[in-house]
Amino acid sequence: MSSSLSPEDAAKSAAANRAVAYVKAGMRVGLGTGSTAAFMVRALGGRVRKEGLKIRGVPTSTRTAQLAREVGIDVITLDEAQRLDVTIDGADEFDPDLNLIKGGGGALLQEKIVATASDRMIVIADAAKQVEALGAFPLPVEVIRFGRDTTCDAIARVLRQADVARRDVTLRMDGDAPYVTDEGNHILDLHLDRIGDARRLAADLNQVAGVVENGLFIGLCDTVLIGHGDGRVDICEHS
Ligand code: 5RP
Repeated sequence: MSSSLSPEDAAKSAAANRAVAYVKAGMRVGLGTGSTAAFMVRALGGRVRKEGLKIRGVPTSTRTAQLAREVGIDVITLDEAQRLDVTIDGADEFDPDLNLIKGGGGALLQEKIVATASDRMIVIADAAKQVEALGAFPLPVEVIRFGRDTTCDAIARVLRQADVARRDVTLRMDGDAPYVTDEGNHILDLHLDRIGDARRLAADLNQVAGVVENGLFIGLCDTVLIGHGDGRVDICEHS
């Protein structure tokens, strides 16, 4: 571990380094997005260059695709891979059942498609991402631009019936303009503080016309590797 890393980055790096040990020759690997996933992509590229590890990676964003190519990973599309052996990604929150909030980095749509196409999903995180109940982190919902305010009103109606502690919705911005995802959509961030029934909320949100996908990953994650600043890694497996 490099001593130049902050404790938070050292924790992310520790989790990322442990995760790439799960990758074996010949695997098709989903490559997540975000600062923790970037440590993993660099570590995996290190194995490709130093060990000659033969793998193919399916990135979950244009950012990750660029980084993966830079570090020497053979990048293919999901449709070329069809099925993935493992996806390694970060998360904004995970609960005791390994349900997740993702999308803080704006890549939740590709991340969920790739995770769903994977035999195994490994999440890499620092301990700050571990929560008893999801919802302190604002829940990202990707919506198409057409009729965005109407979609927002429909989401507000869903939230009025939902078991949540707060019901504020904000449009994610990128400077003065709305944030635009890789698919050309916008993101609404739902400030809920606590989500009582994440599975039901995920299903209800995806019933709203105009919603493309939400950032609740329910029953997708198999393993969480929790990195610590001193280099230790705790392993949480789905029971
Ligand atoms: C991107 C994501 C990221 O995995 C999530 O935001 C965590 O990012 P970081 O590792 O930078 O904390 O879901 O859409």
